[in-house]
Amino acid sequence: MAVGDSKDDKLLPPSFYIGNDDDYLRSSINELYSMQMSRNRILYGATEANKGVGQLDQTMDLVKKNILIYITNSKKGLRLAIEDINKQIEDYTNIIKTVPQTQRGLVTIQRKLGVNEKMYIYLLEKRANTIIARAGILPETSIIETAHSIGITKPNKQKILYYFIVVAVTFALIIIFFRVIFFSRIENIIELKRLTKLPVLGEIILSTEANQDYIVVDKDPKAQVTESFRAIRTNMEYMASDADSKVILVTSYNPGEGKTFCSVNLATIFAKANKKVLLLEMDLHKPKIQKALNMSSDIGVSTILIGKTEISSTILPTGIDNLSVILSGPTPPNASEIILSKQLKEIFDYGRREFDYIIVDTAPIGLITDALVIMKNADISLFVLNAKYAKKEVIAIAEEIVENNKLKNFGFILNGVKRRRAGYYYNYGYGYGKGYGYGYGYGYGNSEKKS
Ligand SMILES: Nc1ncnc2c1ncn2[C@@H]1O[C@H](COP(=O)(O)OP(=O)(O)OP(=O)(O)O)[C@@H](O)[C@H]1O
Ligand SMILES: [Mg+2]
Repeated sequence: MAVGDSKDDKLLPPSFYIGNDDDYLRSSINELYSMQMSRNRILYGATEANKGVGQLDQTMDLVKKNILIYITNSKKGLRLAIEDINKQIEDYTNIIKTVPQTQRGLVTIQRKLGVNEKMYIYLLEKRANTIIARAGILPETSIIETAHSIGITKPNKQKILYYFIVVAVTFALIIIFFRVIFFSRIENIIELKRLTKLPVLGEIILSTEANQDYIVVDKDPKAQVTESFRAIRTNMEYMASDADSKVILVTSYNPGEGKTFCSVNLATIFAKANKKVLLLEMDLHKPKIQKALNMSSDIGVSTILIGKTEISSTILPTGIDNLSVILSGPTPPNASEIILSKQLKEIFDYGRREFDYIIVDTAPIGLITDALVIMKNADISLFVLNAKYAKKEVIAIAEEIVENNKLKNFGFILNGVKRRRAGYYYNYGYGYGKGYGYGYGYGYGNSEKKS
């Protein structure tokens, strides 16, 4: 310091270094300064050897020493204070270092806050806008009187109900009317049985095989059509049971109902049951058995009836065991007249002697009366109705024929019935098993006996 380092004792110590707040140092330096001034004054009039000067020098040295000791101690104290302050600075620096991380978190939160604030303000604005816009729309209607119920005035339920009942009944009547007028066909055996008291021997299923060959029963023994012929055969066993051999005549009212088809297949099914069967082609107008059996002959029924040939010579074997046939022979121009010939009965007599069953195919009685003539020789008359076009009126005609000719063994066959579920046969109890016949129990008890 300036006090200790001063080489010139006459110079004054630099008082500006002294802090204002250090009273001790200030007073000591002032004291030193005063003594220095006193020494200088004395030296103007005396020498160094002056006693007063010597005394002053000693006091000044002492003061100087005191000042130096004081300064040294102060220096130490200040150093310690500086160290303390440095430590504090270090602490604060560490605290400051952690500030950026917190700051970052704070910034993020503030950003979110900012966004949310903006969103909130935006929504508030929108809401206010909507409220204002809504308030701006004036309703076109105004409620004069609030709604209140006075009960149902419309629809009038009862009126609608009556209306629909009337419409439904009218529709039903129209449908019934049209069905009666245009659909007077007999479609199934149940309907046929409902319409007549005469026996119904069964129905023949419409066969898909018939296109190629008339004889369908020897193709598939399990086919429904075979089964239906078998059922009719069974039922006929109970008819005319007192006759040794039976003459079965097959006719129909309209042409094309399936007389020839039924005759040929019935004859075959009897033959398959080991019965000796004779098939007679007595439809001299439109003979088709020869076509069905794929045969032809110059002699036959027509030549027998005009007395030209012996019956025995006209009998031809067929490809089927036990089945023989007399074909029609040449078609005569007056077929209906020659049917009246007395030789007709002879054919049947011959047949009865030689065969178990004689199946006779005839012409349709709606067009030609031949069948009515032949019928007198028959034990059983079968009347074929075709489900495709058999009209209900035909039943009345058939009943009249039965009545007029006092026919005892008569039976309807409903031909060409569409295929049904297998269960159908079980339901109606025919076609499976002997003695469970259909025609049985229709008032033929006197002439029928159970096997
Ligand atoms: N159940 C049936 N299934 C399939 N086809 C049948 C059936 N019945 C008859 N048909 C067919 O119908 C046609 C007429 O049958 P069919 O010749 O037997 O009748 P029809 O009564 O003898 O006729 P017409 O009076 O002219 O002699 C034949 O082609 C025959 O194959
Ligand atoms: Mg025919």
